[in-house]
Amino acid sequence: MGVFLLDIRFAAARSTSAAVAVVVPSGEPTTAVSLLGSVPKLRFGPADLDECTAFLEDVGHSGSAGSVHSLPRPGRQPARLLFVGIGDGDEAGWRSAGAALAKSARSEPALIVVAPVELPPAAVRGLAEGLWLASYRYELSTSSPAELRRVTVVLDASGEHAEALERARAVAVSTMLARDLTNTPGDRKTPAWFARRVEKAASGVPQLTVSVRDPAALAEQGFNAILAVGRGSTRGPRLVEMSWRPRGARRHVVLIGKGITFDTGGICIKPLSGMKLMRKDMGGAAAVVGATLAAAAMRLPLRITALAPLAENAIGADAMRPGDVIQHYGGITSEVLNTDAEGRLVLGDVMAYAVRRLRPDVIVDLATLTGAQGVALGKRTAAMYSHSDTLAEEFTGAAAAAGEAVWRMPLLDDYAEELDGGIADLVNSTDIGAGSLLAALYLREFTGALRNDWVHFDMSSPAWADSADGELTKGATGWGVRTLTRWLESASA
Ligand code: BES
Ligand code: MN
Ligand code: ZN
Repeated sequence: MGVFLLDIRFAAARSTSAAVAVVVPSGEPTTAVSLLGSVPKLRFGPADLDECTAFLEDVGHSGSAGSVHSLPRPGRQPARLLFVGIGDGDEAGWRSAGAALAKSARSEPALIVVAPVELPPAAVRGLAEGLWLASYRYELSTSSPAELRRVTVVLDASGEHAEALERARAVAVSTMLARDLTNTPGDRKTPAWFARRVEKAASGVPQLTVSVRDPAALAEQGFNAILAVGRGSTRGPRLVEMSWRPRGARRHVVLIGKGITFDTGGICIKPLSGMKLMRKDMGGAAAVVGATLAAAAMRLPLRITALAPLAENAIGADAMRPGDVIQHYGGITSEVLNTDAEGRLVLGDVMAYAVRRLRPDVIVDLATLTGAQGVALGKRTAAMYSHSDTLAEEFTGAAAAAGEAVWRMPLLDDYAEELDGGIADLVNSTDIGAGSLLAALYLREFTGALRNDWVHFDMSSPAWADSADGELTKGATGWGVRTLTRWLESASA
């Protein structure tokens, strides 16, 4: 399980044996030294300050965001100085600095961050998110080596600083939950298990409710694609519906996340190379649940419904076959040309349900939908599709502010004809290339009246990091929690 041990707090300066981190803005290493000199409680004399200046010159500290140089001071207090770059000092620079400190100070029990006097709340948010996100670990056996437990930011904090820290905490806790859910191996991650974890995470939060549909309820209500995809597995599918309804909310946003707890490909089985990481195929579901929990923790004044169709795409005697035809919730039919294009099938049911029954103002879906997404955009950047320039701009801004990357892709109408030609309304797979785009066009068929109020993210590849990178740790990244939460914050401002 992931660990959330690190405590971040504000305090006044005092003399300390803990390691001290000093902030270095880009191109101005001497600022760091004057910062140290300005904290009387640290009792840095001229000789100490000269030593620091010489050290910074010697290592050629550029102040670039996330660069760290460590000065050990054996036998003295503080015993170690960490000079960390914040670049231009914007939120992203502070986030990098926080992530770098989480790594460089990993074996220190405590760390004091000496901050500039005019530290804006956004810097606190960046620093805290970087520290928390980069100190995440996922382990099934708990061996707990020495690790950073407390960071104290020397700051005369205002209410805005405290709120920035609380928002960072909400985002970090939710991202860690999404990472935990996604990192969990497929043997323990059944749809029922995922649903229980969500119920647990939501329990006790006022105005936040969770309902879970089991296979009988799904059958009764016509969620036939979720059932079809889940039929090859002995571990039955579920539909999680999480609802945040604060009093007085006017705008209603529906967040939908693909929740395939393991994707073997079904009868169109994947080769090992493509299958071995397919426990991450519920990263979209984890992100929408996480973002809704973060919004509830922040008590954002808008209504949110998160929908997570959960199923294991397995192989069994009764598994969905190529050529089968499914009638989705709401009536649209799909011919299953490839059992491995299962994500769009389960999403189709849920999008139709959202449009018909929930009638929201906006629908946003996140899905590890296609290998083609990573071919187009690589490891870190998600593909974003929308007919709405306004929503696309809002999400581009939210992602940039939150530190996640998206790139808007076109919904090319000319290609849409590839989706018909079968014996049903739609085919679930085509062979003309542009796989991420065609999957988006397929989903568009389920948006009904919300065609222009819909945003789709194909986040197949950024859901996972092959190695630690900045605030990302190796494995699940929790991609989307940060972007969605930022957007919800701005949408309710
Ligand atoms: N879950 C996969 C997509 C995926 C691939 C996610 C790699 C993350 C990394 C999805 O269900 C899938 O198998 N898509 C097929 C679609 C095709 C059959 C039309 C794909 O991308 O090959
Ligand atoms: Mn698949
Ligand atoms: Zn899949």
